[in-house]
Amino acid sequence: MIDFKQQLQERVMVIEEILNQYLLEETGYQKIVIQAMNYTLKAGGKRIRPLLMLETYKKFGGTEKVIEPFMAAIEMIHTYSLVHDDLPALDNDDYRRGRKTAHIVYGEDMAILAGDALLNYAFEVASTAFSMKEGDVSIGRAFQVLASKPGIHGMIGGQTADVELTGKPLTLEQILFIHRNKTGALLEASMMIGAILAGAKEEDVIKIQQIGSNIGLAFQIEDDILDIIGTEEEIGKPVNSDERNGKTTYVSLKGMEQAKEDVKQLTKEAITQLSQIGTENTFLTELLQYLINRTH
Ligand code: IPE
Ligand code: IPE
Ligand code: MG
Ligand code: MG
Ligand code: MG
Repeated sequence: MIDFKQQLQERVMVIEEILNQYLLEETGYQKIVIQAMNYTLKAGGKRIRPLLMLETYKKFGGTEKVIEPFMAAIEMIHTYSLVHDDLPALDNDDYRRGRKTAHIVYGEDMAILAGDALLNYAFEVASTAFSMKEGDVSIGRAFQVLASKPGIHGMIGGQTADVELTGKPLTLEQILFIHRNKTGALLEASMMIGAILAGAKEEDVIKIQQIGSNIGLAFQIEDDILDIIGTEEEIGKPVNSDERNGKTTYVSLKGMEQAKEDVKQLTKEAITQLSQIGTENTFLTELLQYLINRTH
């Protein structure tokens, strides 16, 4: 049996190849922004969102290439969110994915534009799915999820509350809103798009949305944990960024032990709920278990 780590590596390589197909040529008067886009996209990262999308797609029986532009698009949207999250006006971080952040290398102006360009380009890429399977209504529905979850009722909503409430003590309700939106929304979108494109029934898509939200919450709690106990070398971004910025996090609110426990519990529940819908996907279960113990 091929072990999990090897399977993970192979899948990430496939994702890198898909992304590479969509990279733009660095040319023209807009060359510098294209360079900044490629710099951040090619810097690596765990590629969790396209992974979750693909594995959910398989879980509901999906086998076609129509998923690929969506996999690339969600990673572009996620990458744009990181470029903007690191800006001096937001978290002011100098490292990301083991490299200097886009604004350090290309300047703040170009980093802002590169983020904008990544967001737009993501939709340009995703829209190519329409001509791959003409008349398939699930593509329009997936496109709608791709448009809404990163927006004001999703990622941007969470980032807004995160930034506006910086330096203030938060209630559990506020931190849950922030985590489920700034991070949960893109993980939800990833899994929902996988289910939708595979033709999952609406009630299962709704279940996937809830499961994705819980996985997203667990993922951001773990991110808050790693901000404290991780090393810069492993996480590829500065440690103690949250404390430096005066952020209330899940850990500062509930304590390290409880935070770790909650990540485990949320993941366990998600795995159980996943086992009740679609077909079994052992790799997906292992991926979720791996995320609990991740070091980056
Ligand atoms: C970092 O996301 C920001 C969060 C939403 C927690 P990831 O931990 O997925 O970052 P990469 O893509 O692996 O760099
Ligand atoms: C940001 O959360 C989530 C995004 C929407 C980018 P963090 O600010 O904790 O993410 P990191 O730690 O910088 O990756
Ligand atoms: Mg932030
Ligand atoms: Mg940050
Ligand atoms: Mg963080």
